[in-house]
Amino acid sequence: MRRAPYSSASTLMFDRGWNVDDKGPSIWDTFCHEGGRLVFEGQSGDVTCNSYELWEEDLRCIRQLGLTHYRLSLSWSRLLPEGITRHVNQKGLRYYNKVINDLVASDVLPMVTLYHFDLPQALQDQGGWKSPEIAAIFDSYARFCFESFGDRVKLWITLNEPYVCAKLGHEDGIFAPGVKEPGMAAYLVGHNMLRGHARAWHSYNVLYRAKQGGSVSLAINSDWAEPLDPASPDDTAATERYLAFTLGWFAWPLFVTGDYPEVMRSSIEVRSKELGYQEGSRLPRFSKDEPSLLGTADFFALNYYTSRRVKPGECCPGVLGLKSDQDAEGVVDPSWPVCGVSWLAVVPDGLRKLLKYIKDTFNNPAVYITENGFSQVGPVDMEDVQRCGFYHDIIQEIARALREDGVDVRGYFAWSLLDNFEWADGFSVRFGLFHVDFSRPERPRTAYRSGREYAGIISKYRSQTMVNI
Ligand code: NOJ
Repeated sequence: MRRAPYSSASTLMFDRGWNVDDKGPSIWDTFCHEGGRLVFEGQSGDVTCNSYELWEEDLRCIRQLGLTHYRLSLSWSRLLPEGITRHVNQKGLRYYNKVINDLVASDVLPMVTLYHFDLPQALQDQGGWKSPEIAAIFDSYARFCFESFGDRVKLWITLNEPYVCAKLGHEDGIFAPGVKEPGMAAYLVGHNMLRGHARAWHSYNVLYRAKQGGSVSLAINSDWAEPLDPASPDDTAATERYLAFTLGWFAWPLFVTGDYPEVMRSSIEVRSKELGYQEGSRLPRFSKDEPSLLGTADFFALNYYTSRRVKPGECCPGVLGLKSDQDAEGVVDPSWPVCGVSWLAVVPDGLRKLLKYIKDTFNNPAVYITENGFSQVGPVDMEDVQRCGFYHDIIQEIARALREDGVDVRGYFAWSLLDNFEWADGFSVRFGLFHVDFSRPERPRTAYRSGREYAGIISKYRSQTMVNI
């Protein structure tokens, strides 16, 4: 009998309280506060759900749903206002200790993410993720967290969605820190994030694993992708590039070779030659003198939201940029419903296909689905039947992946417990199982219908899998 996945749990905890109690500013604080940025209606993440003051309300929601796990993200600059361990914010430390203690006392296992898009501004001022020094600085922050919380936290994510930090933050400039250096900065940022991750994993392995017994990984976001025309070799090749430049970019170094996918490297090199780019590859190489990447994930952490059908890109070949290197365009199949935000075509069976692909490509790893969800925009619908249907479908696809495809799924985290600040979309996009009224200072949390149903789905699913598998 295989172990059932503890299908349950939820989200990032959005504490914000951006400058309360000695918290240092992060790049998202700066991004929101600077005029002319692209955040919806000029909104900011200053308070959001105010979990910093209302944590006990969050805990009540977690218990109401009967979650067995809860994924939360630490704010680096709340713990270390300048990003370095010389100055520790004791109030921030006390806050996270309370959160973790309360979870453990409630029989809810915390999965803790060290970095979720919000670099301390002080480190950005020194070059941020583009600077090679950041890898060692991240490692010392990670060690500080392992040391402070690792006696109780057994599931760690070093970095959340490095692809998004690299591409949206440093290629498109639509996420903090708002850098627009197409075809250059994203590769460097992704590289330094991987170097930082590797160092942190090795630190855990050498210094903490024996006494703490936890697992460490990196959360990789990826669409499922398949050729627009399955009979077309061009569409098939474009699909391979599409996956290599998203999933493969971060998973290949960890699970397959210790380096980027060959097709990613060769595509970038071909494009560089065409553009007469002289100064060596734009995709950096890993140094043999540094901790190796291969094997630095104790499980596969996957953030899955949507799928695409893929054909060769329409981007003009003379343009320097990641899209032009990738030369692949994803389109939404007309039969897929789009929910809320325009990028989110709802394709539950895409998750099953992606899980099978991960099993086959990355040597059958243990998998946690660390994020997945369904959004609402426009007038609030508390009776959100579509989202209820979505959670039924997605959990069923996971059950199939587990039973029929033999994927080693260990857990599922719905995104998210609460409506919260959806980055550049501000508060206009709602992913919560609980509605949050952002217009009131008390930020009341009220379960959507989908929240109530989710509680039922996961409890039924837990007992079913124990019996059937
Ligand atoms: C992934 C990110 O980790 C999360 O912060 C975001 O809100 C969701 N995607 C939905 O866009």
